[in-house]
Amino acid sequence: MSSRDCILCKLISLTITAVVCSVLFLASLHINYQWEFIKEHVRFRRNSPQQNEWTHSPHGMLRVYMFNVTNAESFLNGTDLRLKIQQIGPIAYHVTGLNEILSQTSDSVTFRRNPHNIFEFDPSASSSPDILNQTIIMPNIILLSSAAKLHDWVFFVRHAFNAITINESAFLKETINYFLWDFTIPTLSLLAHYVPNIVSNCGLLYNAIRPKELIYNVKIGVDNGIENFFRVNTFNNKTYFPQQRAFVKRAKKSDEYCPVILDNSFDNSFFPPLLTRETELNIIATESCRTLN
Ligand SMILES: *[C@@H]1O[C@H](CO)[C@@H](O)[C@H](O)[C@H]1NC(C)=O
Ligand SMILES: *[C@@H]1O[C@H](CO)[C@@H](O)[C@H](O)[C@H]1NC(C)=O
Ligand SMILES: *[C@@H]1O[C@H](CO)[C@@H](O)[C@H](O)[C@H]1NC(C)=O
Ligand SMILES: *[C@@H]1O[C@H](CO)[C@@H](O)[C@H](O)[C@H]1NC(C)=O
Ligand SMILES: *[C@@H]1O[C@H](CO)[C@@H](O)[C@H](O)[C@H]1NC(C)=O
Repeated sequence: MSSRDCILCKLISLTITAVVCSVLFLASLHINYQWEFIKEHVRFRRNSPQQNEWTHSPHGMLRVYMFNVTNAESFLNGTDLRLKIQQIGPIAYHVTGLNEILSQTSDSVTFRRNPHNIFEFDPSASSSPDILNQTIIMPNIILLSSAAKLHDWVFFVRHAFNAITINESAFLKETINYFLWDFTIPTLSLLAHYVPNIVSNCGLLYNAIRPKELIYNVKIGVDNGIENFFRVNTFNNKTYFPQQRAFVKRAKKSDEYCPVILDNSFDNSFFPPLLTRETELNIIATESCRTLN
């Protein structure tokens, strides 16, 4: 091969390389990386870092305050007309939730949420490390709320109620731990015969974090449209709260916005990308059995 030929083939290969590079460069200008990133986000792939992070969320701190009645005796003997209360707290707990994926397809994911998967007392963030062992005086809310439930009942039930509760005091002096987690009174099982739907443990936190079935089915994937990412299809297999069935019937008869229909609202863990300030969102509030916007 002459040296002239060699220069020619070098030139040709250089030119080809240059053209390929230019084409690739120009092509790359037309790829919208942000758009690719968003598409990847809404695909919500199994075991992606984004999904794994979401599984163990949300987490935060719960601070509880209790109220100590400081004049129970004077109130009972008629000296004081009003209860005096003293705020006790905070009593702090670390809370970590868990979103457990039950099934996933390319356009929807079904998961069970346990908002209180890990619930740990934090002594250093509380007002005192032994706060749970401190004693406070609280009204006997079991007695009071049972009495309120019975208020309109026939005479003989009320009569029975009085017989059972005559020895129950109106105030209880117990530890904070007792009121939060283990609030029972001896007559509770007897009361259960007369008061419907009474629970055996009235502990305030015990009831607040009792596991509830929270199963969401939400839209994911590019085919649903990125603006529908994580929009709820069903909650506990329904598109409305079962407790609110009467409202749903009424809502279907009118065009008014009704906060009890769930489809198209959000579960409050993810929202579609590219939201603007003006976008209206409905969020499912499981505590109050309605949606908020
Ligand atoms: C609650 O009030 C009672 C009566 O005043 C008092 O003896 C008790 O120490 C108080 N408890 C706390 C935790 O401050
Ligand atoms: C009511 O109880 C308070 C506190 O125990 C006491 O100081 C007061 O003398 C009592 N009053 C009457 C009328 O018994
Ligand atoms: C609270 O009381 C229980 C039972 O008496 C005891 O085992 C526990 O160590 C106490 N906790 C604190 C923080 O004092
Ligand atoms: C209430 O207390 C009195 C005296 O302590 C006792 O004789 C009575 O049997 C008790 N009643 C109930 C229903 O426990
Ligand atoms: C929800 O519906 C699906 C299909 O209709 C059914 O297979 C599943 O058992 C239901 N789940 C519950 C909790 O009712």
